[in-house]
Amino acid sequence: MIAAVARNYTIGAGNSLPWEMPTDMHFFMKTTRGHHVIMGRKSFEDIGKPLQGRTNIVVTRQASYQANGVCIAHSLDEALALARQNGETEVFIIGGENLFTEGLQKADKIYLTWIHADFEGDTHFPRFDPKQWHEIERTDCASDAENPYPYSFTTLAKAH
Ligand SMILES: NC(=O)c1ccc[n+]([C@@H]2O[C@H](COP(=O)([O-])OP(=O)(O)OC[C@H]3O[C@@H](n4cnc5c(N)ncnc54)[C@H](OP(=O)(O)O)[C@@H]3O)[C@@H](O)[C@H]2O)c1
Repeated sequence: MIAAVARNYTIGAGNSLPWEMPTDMHFFMKTTRGHHVIMGRKSFEDIGKPLQGRTNIVVTRQASYQANGVCIAHSLDEALALARQNGETEVFIIGGENLFTEGLQKADKIYLTWIHADFEGDTHFPRFDPKQWHEIERTDCASDAENPYPYSFTTLAKAH
């Protein structure tokens, strides 16, 4: 999974991101480029178009949902199976709350950017068990002219 998460676990407000953090957005684009990305239907509609340079899989329960330039799946398992069939080696669940909550059981790695501020919002990253998820990488970054909040790039691996 790959997510940007506020100190109070907010990830979204009014079906969009509550912040603009361009360096994290570049990290997201670089990390997922060339891979399959799986997203909930609401996140897809927030982004508004397929993410270029990657295979987009949108998960929805609507039988007749269609959108140009994306594959449709009707469950997370179906989306994961589709990526596997295509020979994907690292598939990314990219949100939102619904998909992260279900994905926590299935993921083995989380690229988690902590945004060191609290945000009001209506969607949150699931509280995960720190005994089950070990931080294996961390880079702390100060705020700057482009990125208004301090942030940390972390990688979490699931303990086996
Ligand atoms: N900070 C971050 O890293 C980050 C990343 C991504 C998104 N976000 C934010 O998260 C918010 C959206 O999150 P959300 O939880 O409201 O929506 P979401 O997870 O993006 O999409 C939810 C929709 O996905 C479909 N869905 C979910 N689970 C499913 C399942 N098991 N099987 C089939 N379909 C399933 C359903 O679509 P139907 O209703 O069509 O059936 C559901 O309504 C936005 O504010 C967005 O900006 C933040």
